Amino acid sequence: MLVRLLYASRAAATLEASIVESILVQAARNNPAQGITGILCYNVDLFIQVLEGGRDEVCELFNKIVRDERHTQVRILSYEEIPERRFGGWTMGQVNIAKVNPSLLLKYAEKAELNPFICSGKASLALLDELIATASVVKRGV
Ligand SMILES: Cc1cc2nc3c(=O)[nH]c(=O)nc-3n(C[C@H](O)[C@H](O)[C@H](O)COP(=O)(O)O)c2cc1C
Repeated sequence: MLVRLLYASRAAATLEASIVESILVQAARNNPAQGITGILCYNVDLFIQVLEGGRDEVCELFNKIVRDERHTQVRILSYEEIPERRFGGWTMGQVNIAKVNPSLLLKYAEKAELNPFICSGKASLALLDELIATASVVKRGV
């Protein structure tokens, strides 16, 4: 059974490229064997990540991620059983929010900035869908 989990978190320290890189290296190393796909979005101080895969695998990975000291305030925005993957093209795609067209961010929020902590999980997922559609996702590790 497939599930999709979307969460947001605050980076523990201002995000350096090396921190994002180290996370993506871990994802590329671990996710394929677990059948996990998804997208990691980030900017200077936040993460928003979609994890898709089997329920056990997604929950086990999420348990690990929650305990990771590189971020805090982990908040589940949405969790659902799904008939098919939507983010299946990426072992873990990456999106630097700073590089996303501001008008896209404005479409789903009051200001042209991503604040998943105050908007609905549905709106965040819709934005991620658009990021795929507009090819904003950097493919990685597949
Ligand atoms: C925001 C964030 C996203 C992460 N995403 C993943 C992921 O998709 N896959 C993964 O294996 N680890 C991910 N991690 C890292 C895990 O918390 C953990 O450090 C890692 O899985 C340990 O892997 P290792 O045992 O191979 O060192 C993420 C960490 C953070 C802070």
